[in-house]
Amino acid sequence: MCGIIGYTGHRPAVPVCIEGLRRLEYRGYDSAGVTFAQQGRLEVIKESGKLAELERALEKAGNVYNATTALAHTRWATHGVPNQANAHPHLDGGERVALVHNGIIENFQSLRQELADKGYTFRSDTDSEVLVQLLSEGLHHHGSMKEALSWTLGRAEGAFAIVVLSLDRPGRLWGARQHSPLVMGLGVGENFLASDIPAFLPYTREVVFLEEGELVEIDASSWRVYDLETLKVRDKEPQTITWDVQAAQKGGYKHFMLKEIFEQPRVIRDCLTGRLDAAAGEVRLEELDDLPDPERITVVACGTSYYAGLWGKHIIEKLARVPVDVTIASEFRYSDPIVGPGDMVLAISQSGETADTLAGMRLARERGAKVLGLCNVVGSSVARESDAVIYTQAGPEISVASTKAMCSQLTLLLCIALRLARRLGRFSDEDMETAAKALDELPGTLDDALPEMRETAQKYSRLYSEAANFLYLGRGWAYPMALEGALKLKEISYIHAEGYAAGEMKHGPIALIDPKFPTFALAMADELFPKVKSNLIEVQARGGKIIALTNPGLDLEVDHPWPLPHVWGPLNVFMALPALQLFAYELADYLGKDVDQPRNLAKSVTVE
Ligand code: M6R
Repeated sequence: MCGIIGYTGHRPAVPVCIEGLRRLEYRGYDSAGVTFAQQGRLEVIKESGKLAELERALEKAGNVYNATTALAHTRWATHGVPNQANAHPHLDGGERVALVHNGIIENFQSLRQELADKGYTFRSDTDSEVLVQLLSEGLHHHGSMKEALSWTLGRAEGAFAIVVLSLDRPGRLWGARQHSPLVMGLGVGENFLASDIPAFLPYTREVVFLEEGELVEIDASSWRVYDLETLKVRDKEPQTITWDVQAAQKGGYKHFMLKEIFEQPRVIRDCLTGRLDAAAGEVRLEELDDLPDPERITVVACGTSYYAGLWGKHIIEKLARVPVDVTIASEFRYSDPIVGPGDMVLAISQSGETADTLAGMRLARERGAKVLGLCNVVGSSVARESDAVIYTQAGPEISVASTKAMCSQLTLLLCIALRLARRLGRFSDEDMETAAKALDELPGTLDDALPEMRETAQKYSRLYSEAANFLYLGRGWAYPMALEGALKLKEISYIHAEGYAAGEMKHGPIALIDPKFPTFALAMADELFPKVKSNLIEVQARGGKIIALTNPGLDLEVDHPWPLPHVWGPLNVFMALPALQLFAYELADYLGKDVDQPRNLAKSVTVE
């Protein structure tokens, strides 16, 4: 899970690549490096640690402004610790070819042994270095870089997006992909290869998405795509990106996460645009209407997207009465799942590149199920490989902790529930009118509520900043939110937190409760409120302190009540979610944690 940027054109290439890496840091950030040709040799400058370390090394090196072609990488370690030797780019033994790689080569050990037997030596522990050494072997046998790449990558099992620079053609770059993303940016007199569009967005909006098993060759003024196996030319259609780089920057907020939390009213509005007709009291969802009525839906997703799926189950079953199973993708793919024709598999993924989710949806398609993708990244693998795709339109999410993307997923899941309910005749005109009106008002209500929510989050985070553990409790729709609240807290503050169904607490976790083990409860106005209230009394009886998301006027006595605005029942989730996110954010920031790039995590989990 790394970030790649390659540039060839008329500008000083190293600064372009470093700037591109900065916008890709969300993909990995434990080491970084850059290579370019200079005075007849390939210069490689790389450092462990964040990008600033590489920038310091470049300053020291001086004279890095002449090259107009360069290749750079930011790494999230898979094979080998994050140190300088394991950082990319990697060179072949003769130092004539440099390669950067994102993905995992599963058979790297046998390839490495084979090469070692032939006398190759290795400078790193990475699977990626094996690729560049194998490539130099390929060049011995095949002469041309294209043929050598086809041969080399044909022998590699696993996932890769690679870009290569060769001393023999220093103005040219070659890239190829298999199960890892790679996109080409087309400028005037300059071209780019990168893991993601923001890397080159200040320079061009014209992009070509590379598909599985494609090889690309670029220089400053031309590009061509080939089938990696046969080397036959493939026709590709450039697409124009409409969002701008501003959207990928902080816009005055201290962190991307905070900015993204505050963007949620806009996200809801965007998701509803063209889908909600408040005047007619209707929700349209053409992407769903292309698919037959499902007998059953199986949601496959990971992390926060999985929790969104759990909420989706609640709302789809409640409104449309269609049964929904929700499975963690890494479990689904190895479970010999019972899916087939007649089933709809809903693959939820912000990035659209999560390896387990992709594997799950591929399996479902093999078995004859229709796959509906719910994803945020246009042209991503989930989008391309689904039978139909609903884009969540949250815009690029930079903070590793997912916030606005979940909000967009919930909005679309509600639209799916409403649309199915209408299609199946399970939601009356009157109910639909109420829903449409409430949805129409939702962005404004949330916009108004967010500043006060942040103040409350600030206040309570200070009060609980010494807690080492948290229990998050909810029931019904609020249970998935308890799971999400706990996940957010542990991801960015490193405080241990567990989400639990409030009614299940007395079957075990209640043993943990004492005055130092606080509970964060969701006790909002719904039919389960009296039950949650009883569960909280059980916590209080053990001396446990409680913060509770609730609504004005509810009869609840806890240490720290947190009233949120009243909304139409199914929309409570859109009030609770930002409160949970802001509490985690404020606590992590108060504790001085690296909110946007928490330790050990990466934004896009493209490995199993
Ligand atoms: O891109 P995806 O939605 O497929 O990602 C799934 C998870 O990796 C992701 O939600 C992860 O749990 C986030 N760190 C949550 O904040």
